[in-house]
Amino acid sequence: MDPVYSVPVAAVKIHGVRHRYLALVGLDLVRQVGEHACKFLPGKTCAIVTDTNVGPLFARRVERSLTSASLKPIVITIPAGEKSKTLKQAGAICEQMIAAGLDRQSFVIGLGGGVVGDISGFVAAIYHRGIPHVQIPTTLLAMADSSIGGKTGVDTRAGKNLIGAFHHPSLVIDDVDVLKTLPRRQFNQGFAEIIKHAIIADAKMFNQLQSWQARSPRRPLALQQLICRNIKIKSNIVAKDELDRTGERAVLNFGHSVGHAIERAGNYRKFLHGEALSLGIVAACAVSIKRAGLAPGQRDAVIDLLQRFDFPTRLPKNFPREKIFKALKFDKKFEQGEIRFVVTPRIGAACLRSDVTLEDIHEAVGEL
Ligand SMILES: NC(=O)c1ccc[n+]([C@@H]2O[C@H](COP(=O)([O-])OP(=O)(O)OC[C@H]3O[C@@H](n4cnc5c(N)ncnc54)[C@H](O)[C@@H]3O)[C@@H](O)[C@H]2O)c1
Ligand SMILES: [Zn+2]
Repeated sequence: MDPVYSVPVAAVKIHGVRHRYLALVGLDLVRQVGEHACKFLPGKTCAIVTDTNVGPLFARRVERSLTSASLKPIVITIPAGEKSKTLKQAGAICEQMIAAGLDRQSFVIGLGGGVVGDISGFVAAIYHRGIPHVQIPTTLLAMADSSIGGKTGVDTRAGKNLIGAFHHPSLVIDDVDVLKTLPRRQFNQGFAEIIKHAIIADAKMFNQLQSWQARSPRRPLALQQLICRNIKIKSNIVAKDELDRTGERAVLNFGHSVGHAIERAGNYRKFLHGEALSLGIVAACAVSIKRAGLAPGQRDAVIDLLQRFDFPTRLPKNFPREKIFKALKFDKKFEQGEIRFVVTPRIGAACLRSDVTLEDIHEAVGEL
């Protein structure tokens, strides 16, 4: 049977106090963008923001689908990579939209990975003080994590995501087919966030992931179910604390305090985000054993699972650990000396603690 017909489109409902939208997850959806945009968005003109890797692969298909639905898209292509996630680039996108006559009725489509999703969402948040945003994520990380939750923004020299806005998408379209062209190392990055979701909220998914590698890692139906599950996990957590103020949303940062510090210490070149997160998760598990009663056997199961997905669980011997400690101090969560650290007492649960000390973290990093 043609796989297009064997996987029906799944629609995950996402809602909170300030947002309500659908994430459609299926196959060959890039050809149906126009149809869905007409259903969910009032505007007729839009900008497709994409990058130099994704644009040549999928932008034409999205553009054609929009024009055949009588919409008027323009395509804006930015250089691929994190270096494009800047205020300057966001300004340049806005200028192109102004030049093309896009107005308050227009909308922005982000067609790409988390970089494109974050910057296009930020542009949508500020253009004419806010126009609708459609996310078409093309990496597993973006489908399972970054396209959901409404956090948009850009980096500055001082740090990542320091400028941004909460701006939820009006629609998310996850076409599992587009993952086929994603290089293996990039594809895998999404699994670090998925494993994180399992540790903090879903012991059953953790067990399922333990047998994932035995099957084909890119089986469409399995991927569709996995993406839907992760969208639900993230959106349920976000709904409890949309603006990241009460601490409930902060559990999504599990593994990220140390992970970000490792990313920064490696000058954002040594490790991809998911790889640094993997190391951060191992460190967070060590802290959890000490401060939250995590059973050492469960930490070992986490390490085993990360290794199944080819993630590093130890730092290279010559890695400058002192750079990690230095970077930790720059972290937003360590400001004013107060450490708020996410721990897991058991797989499937997480909470924020304020009794974790810098020594605990140093010790955990020392063990990596
Ligand atoms: N907003 C949030 O809540 C949130 C959450 C997590 C991460 N993020 C952000 O997400 C970004 C990382 O996202 P990412 O890992 O998707 O990186 P990315 O957007 O840089 O994409 C990774 C690489 O894969 C290429 N690519 C993307 N889709 C492809 C496809 N289908 N085929 C071939 N190549 C493809 C891209 O051009 C890029 O080179 C970071 O900026 C991070 O801060 C945001
Ligand atoms: Zn992350």
